[in-house]
Order: sequence, then structure tokens, then C-alpha cells
Amino acid sequence: MTERFEKVVDDIVQRLGANNVLLGNDIGERYQGDWSGVNLQRPIAVFRPANTADVAHIMAVCHSAGQSVVVQGGMTGLCAGATPQLNEIAISLERMSAIEEIDSLSMTMTVLAGTPLASIQDSANEAGFRFPLDLGARGSCTIGGNISTNAGGNQVIQFGMTRNLILGLEVVLPDGTILTSLNKMLKNNAGYDLKHLFIGTEGTLGIVTRAVLRLYPRPLTKLTALCALNSLQDTIKLLRHLTKSLGGGLGAYEVMWSDYVDYASTHISGLNSPFDGRFDVYVLVEYEGVRPETDANLFEEALHGVMEAGLVSDAVLAQSEREAKNLWRLRDAIGDIFQQLKNAISFDISAPIGSIPEMLELISQDLHLSFGEIVKLTYGHLGDSNIHLTVATGKQSDTERISEIVYQRTGLFHGSISGEHGIGVTKKKYLTLSRGDSEIEVMRKLKVLFDPKGILNPNRVLP
Ligand code: LAC
Ligand code: ZN
Repeated sequence: MTERFEKVVDDIVQRLGANNVLLGNDIGERYQGDWSGVNLQRPIAVFRPANTADVAHIMAVCHSAGQSVVVQGGMTGLCAGATPQLNEIAISLERMSAIEEIDSLSMTMTVLAGTPLASIQDSANEAGFRFPLDLGARGSCTIGGNISTNAGGNQVIQFGMTRNLILGLEVVLPDGTILTSLNKMLKNNAGYDLKHLFIGTEGTLGIVTRAVLRLYPRPLTKLTALCALNSLQDTIKLLRHLTKSLGGGLGAYEVMWSDYVDYASTHISGLNSPFDGRFDVYVLVEYEGVRPETDANLFEEALHGVMEAGLVSDAVLAQSEREAKNLWRLRDAIGDIFQQLKNAISFDISAPIGSIPEMLELISQDLHLSFGEIVKLTYGHLGDSNIHLTVATGKQSDTERISEIVYQRTGLFHGSISGEHGIGVTKKKYLTLSRGDSEIEVMRKLKVLFDPKGILNPNRVLP
């Protein structure tokens, strides 16, 4: 232990108590890395603050000591952003989990950053509302991480990404200053809207400690179907068709290619495709309505129409909530697949939707030419132009060549190297493929302005 580090630890032990300062072998696996499994490393200490004032105190102490920190939430990221780097202290917000207020008139919920997404969804439901952010990691991820990474998920076509669901934020800056704007209004143009600096900037400019979330009414009906199709072109046509015929009620449009469905059915126990035949693409469609008497008819008619037109080859309509959950299990299985495929690389590329079929074709062809038979799972949100590829050759040393093929081909079609998961560490060196020099220069200037000593989540995002 250096003298500097010892002084920081002594100070924080006094503030948080020895129980909430972990050192050496007491630092468990959860603090050593995110779900990407890349560069796992034990932080030199873990601090577990209970409130915003604790976080501010920790940052003030670390700032004056020049001590680097990494901020940790549910650790479900896929770009190693929350994974500790050499000589970093981890600040885990796990104790800062609370739903502080539900304001039914404003339709807002105020929460602490360490609250798991699933608890927020459940509490919103119990109060007769919904918080329309949903992703497979809902049980483990926390709202602070969702905000810092501007998480996307399954309901973006209707509600936008996390950014659209945040009305107010409280943030601790790298020097310990607390910035509070717990705004509840839909309209507030009084000066700069600073919250956007902390949404999607992956914790590089400040630590989100509290948030005011926007709630929505609960739909009265939710109907789910799995459709089987014979081409991606048809899948895009189906999306446009349903967007129109369901009158704004299309809630989710999650696409799984046969490579994904085949893999999930053979490797995850208890999972099976509900169809006898095998198809190129499967789409999980969710319709949400407010007219229980007629919604089922509308949805069934829409499905019937697209089958008659030959767009959809087969379809299964869930007859109960349990059946709907079962269909979603196929899509959510990616969480379990990540745990099994430790050396896999997960891409979250996006591109203008019309280019996606050709882009995926080219990527597939070139991966095949370079590596022969590999594990490649294709799935994703499609409706919001975001596709996931999970690729594994089993060899860590192939990571760079695989990434270059995927990102270079994405660039050819004017796509983005990250539609959803962010940059973290793993995509840093490819950022220039999606952002211009002047954009990156402004990002750098912001980082220096907020964190002149470079102690908060350093060496992330910016190349
Ligand atoms: C998903 C995560 C991987 O869509 O973003 O399942
Ligand atoms: Zn996703």
C-alpha cells in the first residue's frame, strides 16, 4: 500500500465504517469485471457509500489525492467500462438502492442510482404505472448504469432510449461537487439542460446518484406473438406493415435469426422453438392496447393479414401471460448464453434499416472466409435499427480480426459501432469509425473540463 492510498482508505473507513471498505481477499468476484469477462481485475479497494453525501466525500478525498476510481452498478455491461483497471478503487453503488417517491400527478418516480431496474418496474406497476425501460438484464442491472450508458432494450420503438425517460438527475462531479436538478416537469428550458452530459457518457463526467424517472400509464392489454419468416427483407416489410396496422400500439419487435434460435434451443435447457419447421428469421411482436374488448381481434386480424399476404410463414399467438413469458424466454436466453460463451465478442451495431440485410450478408460472408465455421448468433431489436452479433471462435487472439471485419463493414454502410451498449474499453479504438475528429475533440475537452485530473473512470470511451 502506498502512503497516499493508505490515507484515502483511512479516511473512508472513518466515514463508511470498516464493513463498507473491502480490501484484498475480501473483494469478491462481482467487483472484478462486467459481463464481457474482458480484463478481469481486482480493484485495490471497494468503497460502498450509503448516500450522495458519502459519494461526494469519497470523490473529494480521491480528487485531492489524485486517486483513480471506477464506478460500479449491476456489472451487466458488455464493454468492460465498469471493470477495474490498474490501481483503481471501485465505488460500488449497491447500497444506494431505494425508491424514494412516486408522484402520481407528475407521473414521476424518484430513485437512488443503485436501484435494480426490475424493482423500479415492479414498483411502477404496483402504483398503476409503468416504467417502460426493459432489457434482459433487468434483474441485475441498476438504474444508475442504465442512465450512464443510455440503455436501450426492448421498448425503444415506442418510448425511446433511457435518455427519453429521465426528467431530473443528481450527479457527483469528479471533485466532489454535487449537482442537483431533480426536475419533474416535461418542460424546463431554463438554461442548459445539463443532465444530458451524464446520460450515455458512461460515468466519465460525473457519477449519477439519484434520478427522477418518467412514468407512463400501463397498457390494458398486452398481446404477444412469435412470427416465423423466410427473409430479412420480409421482416422489415412486416415491421412497417404492423407499425401502421397496429395504430401506434407496436410495443416490441425483437428479431432472432435461425443461428441464434438453433443455438439457444440446443444449449439452454428447457428452451425450444415452438415451430415444427425451421425458418430464416423469427420475430417476437408485442402489441399493447387500451381497449380490452377489441384489442385481441385487432391483433389477430393484423397477424392473419400478414400471413395471407405471404409475409409471415407461421405464427404462434400466446394465449396467456405464461405463454407470453415462455416466448420471451427465447429472446432473454442471451443472458445465459453470455455466461456460457466466456470468450465471445458481442456487437451492438446499428445501421439505416434498409442497409441491414446487405450489411449482415457481407459481414457473414467475410467472417466465414476468414474463420470458416464459427459460432455466430444474430438477434436484436431491428425496429430501432440495432442488431446484435455474438461471435466466438474460442480463441481470445481472434478478437481483433473479428472486430475489424464487423466494424469496417458497418462503416461501409454508414452504421454505428455502438447502437446500444456504449464504448467502454473494448470499442475505444474503433470510435473514429463512427465519430469525426472534431466530435472527438469536443468530447476530450469536456472530459478535461469536468475531470482535469483524469481520476473518474479514466481510459474509457475516448481513444
Ligand atoms: C440484448 C442485449 C445484449 O439486446 O443488449 O439482449
Ligand atoms: Zn440489445
